Amino acid sequence: MNRRIVILGFMGCGKTTVARELARQLGCSFVDLDFFINERSGRSSAEIIQQDGEDSFRDLETLALRDVLQDKQTRVIALGGGTWTIPANRTLIALHDCLSVWLDAPFELCWERINAGRTVRPLARDRETALARYESRRVDYALAERPIAVDELDPAEALAAEILRGI
Ligand code: S3P
Repeated sequence: MNRRIVILGFMGCGKTTVARELARQLGCSFVDLDFFINERSGRSSAEIIQQDGEDSFRDLETLALRDVLQDKQTRVIALGGGTWTIPANRTLIALHDCLSVWLDAPFELCWERINAGRTVRPLARDRETALARYESRRVDYALAERPIAVDELDPAEALAAEILRGI
């Protein structure tokens, strides 16, 4: 498998955990795009969105994605929840011939994790906003090459193994 893998899906679907586990099973490195942005800018994604607005964050995100994709050593990339919904980002990913994997988790599971986690998510402030975003993004997420249904009980090891079986 020479193609690199990008993991996408809604906030709380498990992108970072599954990408880390997938990289462990493949014995390769992985990058979480939000961590990359945070390290580079010295601010969390939430801070950038709150201080500069979502549009500025999206610009930084696209630049970060472009740079991460330049590094051929990075075999697995966990995107942010909105990265894949931006057409220019999908074009970049296609140009680099990455396999796109959508972690299709039910909204309630994502929402439970969003609430339980310590990560601040300004784009999912309340249930209604998060649900509207979840619904409207599905059409974009569905453009991914490999949808993987995620259940609450699926451990990251099993999801990563399922992704590997399909490639
Ligand atoms: C976002 C998701 C976040 C982060 C930013 C915007 C989104 O990443 O990139 O807050 O638009 O869904 P996670 O999906 O890792 O929470």
